[in-house]
Amino acid sequence: MVDREAFYRNVVHSLRNGVIAIWRDGSIAVLNDAAYRILGLDADPGHVGRSFHDVLGRDHDLVDILSLAFTDAELPNRAELRLRSSGKAIGYTLSRILDRAGTVSGAALLFTDLTRVEQLEERERLRDRLAALGEMAAAIAHEVKNPLAGIQVMAGLLKRQLPDSPDAHEILSDIITEAKVANRIVVDVLEFVRPISLEVEPVSLRGVLDDAVATARSHPRAGHTHIVTDCAADLPDLDADQLQLRQVFTNLLINATEALDGAGHVWITASYAAVDGSPEPVEPPEYAGYVTVEVADDGPGVPVDVTDQLFSPFFTTKPSGSGLGLAIVRKIINAHDGRIEVRPRAGGGATFGVRLPVPHHLVEAVRVVDGDRTAGGSHG
Ligand SMILES: Nc1ncnc2c1ncn2[C@@H]1O[C@H](COP(=O)(O)OP(=O)(O)O)[C@@H](O)[C@H]1O
Ligand SMILES: [Mg+2]
Repeated sequence: MVDREAFYRNVVHSLRNGVIAIWRDGSIAVLNDAAYRILGLDADPGHVGRSFHDVLGRDHDLVDILSLAFTDAELPNRAELRLRSSGKAIGYTLSRILDRAGTVSGAALLFTDLTRVEQLEERERLRDRLAALGEMAAAIAHEVKNPLAGIQVMAGLLKRQLPDSPDAHEILSDIITEAKVANRIVVDVLEFVRPISLEVEPVSLRGVLDDAVATARSHPRAGHTHIVTDCAADLPDLDADQLQLRQVFTNLLINATEALDGAGHVWITASYAAVDGSPEPVEPPEYAGYVTVEVADDGPGVPVDVTDQLFSPFFTTKPSGSGLGLAIVRKIINAHDGRIEVRPRAGGGATFGVRLPVPHHLVEAVRVVDGDRTAGGSHG
């Protein structure tokens, strides 16, 4: 014999929506597991039969809504409410329970936790807002670039017209310097908000590093910074966007230079490691291996409590920094399927480690070139 009563009970208790049912006299008939969970109450069989005012008392709003059931008011359907007790948002529907004769014998509140939905919506809204913000930033940056260039040019002209006034020269030089700082920030903002697209070609990492070092050496605060580059002999080319990769290492080197403030060392090392070839790989790895570039300096290093923020846009500890250098670096590295991390250097300072993947065909290329060389040598 099928136990219909038990089945109905199980339906109610297994529902993933919260159910609160009360009798006409206000005593609780049902509080299912989901209701306990969403309301953050400890399940207690003793609640059945007690007044809903007592049991749900800490959620006044809920009590008020349930109280509506026996008034003439129109009952809320798919309404929303934020629970004071837990801060959770719930969506609910209130129904009167009628017996066969149509008399109201109780009320049922069916509800569901909307907090997660809300969070997703919030994230969606944030993304939209950031996209809109990015567009606005790009538009403003673009408009500001021209007048800034104008300021620099005109200050230069004025300087030439006032050959005998050292005071004026000093002020004009300051104006030009400040305009350059502002211009760099504008360029960074544009770079950061621009959607990234790569022009990938085989790129010599050594060449990229040499270019970046040259740029860093010409930095106004380079002073007596010693930059030493050490590239492994077997370094394969990378499938990369040459200009953007140069930007990565230029930014890292300029940061190191600025951290050193005119005196110290920067060590750049680059090496290649093949993906570990286990004897019988289940499937061939996507990449043949990885190039690791480390940029280390013996400057003050990065305080442990800010390492997490370093790559966030606009995080800067410099008076006229944009805080976008490392955000751009990370964006470019990510687009190349690479990784970047920062850690303290043994002996003081900071080490930035960049890892970039090398596809199979470029490693093959190194082998062929080496093979040719050996063949040529044996003939000579
Ligand atoms: N080599 C380094 N040594 C110490 N701190 C660093 C180094 N590189 C970056 N930082 C820290 O990270 C911050 C963010 O760098 P970045 O994104 O390039 O912005 P910005 O250079 O404009 O400040 C810097 O302000 C600095 O505090
Ligand atoms: Mg920087």
